[in-house]
Amino acid sequence: MAGQARERWGSYAGFLFAAIGSAIGIGNIWRFPYLVGSNGGGTFLLTYLLVVFTFGLAFMVLELLIGRYYQTSIVSALASIRKRFRWVGILMVAVTFAILSYYMVVLGWILSFLVSYLMGQTLDYDAYFGSLYPLASFAAIAAVNYAVIRTGVRRGIERLSKYGVLLLIATIVPLAAVGMALPGAQDGLSFYLEPDALAVADPGVWAAAIGQAFFSLSIGMGVLVTYGSYLAEKRSLLSSSMVIIGVDTAVAFVAGLMVFSFVFSQGMDPAEGTTLAFRVMPAAFSSIDFGVALGALFFLLLLLAGVTSSVSMFQLPVSTLQDTLKMGREKAAAIIGVAAFLAGIPSALSYSSVGLDINGVAFFDMLDTFIGTYGIAVAAVAFSIVTLWFIDRNRLIEQANMYSRVRIPPWLVTVVKVALPVLIIATVATQVIGI
Ligand code: PHE
Repeated sequence: MAGQARERWGSYAGFLFAAIGSAIGIGNIWRFPYLVGSNGGGTFLLTYLLVVFTFGLAFMVLELLIGRYYQTSIVSALASIRKRFRWVGILMVAVTFAILSYYMVVLGWILSFLVSYLMGQTLDYDAYFGSLYPLASFAAIAAVNYAVIRTGVRRGIERLSKYGVLLLIATIVPLAAVGMALPGAQDGLSFYLEPDALAVADPGVWAAAIGQAFFSLSIGMGVLVTYGSYLAEKRSLLSSSMVIIGVDTAVAFVAGLMVFSFVFSQGMDPAEGTTLAFRVMPAAFSSIDFGVALGALFFLLLLLAGVTSSVSMFQLPVSTLQDTLKMGREKAAAIIGVAAFLAGIPSALSYSSVGLDINGVAFFDMLDTFIGTYGIAVAAVAFSIVTLWFIDRNRLIEQANMYSRVRIPPWLVTVVKVALPVLIIATVATQVIGI
């Protein structure tokens, strides 16, 4: 249990900023808006709200409480429940590590676009991805992450997240306002929010909401177990989670207002993922007054959102090396930095002239589908079963309710025990069958 030297958050607010920083990421800006637009608009929004404030909330409280209770990171926490559950923890670390490797590749692209906007130019999509620049900027991002993590939880992650989150909110709100004032932005808002009542009955829509909840709230991988393990404050995990989820969702919503205003005001078609951020948005900016400045702000926003997320993923394998092998922080950070860089090289090369792919699917996309969707799901099911079924129910309730005014009733734990794994399995099944 609690080693004396365990790092701590500097303050409760610092912890909240770090968790919010982890939650708000690239996923909020290039994935959420499109999901809303293509899954029933306003109806999907309500579905998503319902999912995050029930399913997402339960999962988040569970992760944080495991970390706070065992005072250690995922592998050793699960090993304290039963020794053999260590493997579930190792699986979660592996999934997080894989995602970290390609998430940092994307951050490298973002950095390059930002730098070129700051120099007054728009990067050409094809020329850029055909070059080896993506590899160089990926290396720069890995180095930045390493530098933050080796500085420590309080001075590194917490400080970065505090400024990062505030600055990103200060960037996204005016950007959205400028976008919404453009002529034609109204069409974007209709695409984004036009409700489609039938969507509620579509299992694919629910699966999309659950999948997005995982990625956006940073749950299912053990990242929040790690963050919970640095928590000493006597605070309710339920209300902490409500704040984290509320801010994350609000930022995602505003991101949608921003993205679709710009895209539709320029008469362009919306898209999801890489193309949206690196092709569609730059093309939209190129035909607007002050487009270069707006482009710079947009990529600054993505960079801030992304780096505060990548450090949270980076910290997970680092804390594992610290807690299981008793390795020093700086050494662990160096090992993970180099390893994640090496692991990310195939992703960084997959859109380049090297064109690394497997059976015609870019390595990057394959990793994102298999690990980013199925990997998280498998890890999350295993984690929820191991914790909910093998820890004594009364102890779980006691931990969940600690310092909290709202009491979670015992029957709810029984519901959650069954509902969490079943819902995740159903989501994956829906995606595999392709409903
Ligand atoms: N939540 C981040 C996003 O929306 C991604 C992330 C997932 C970060 C899991 C940490 C852990 O982009």
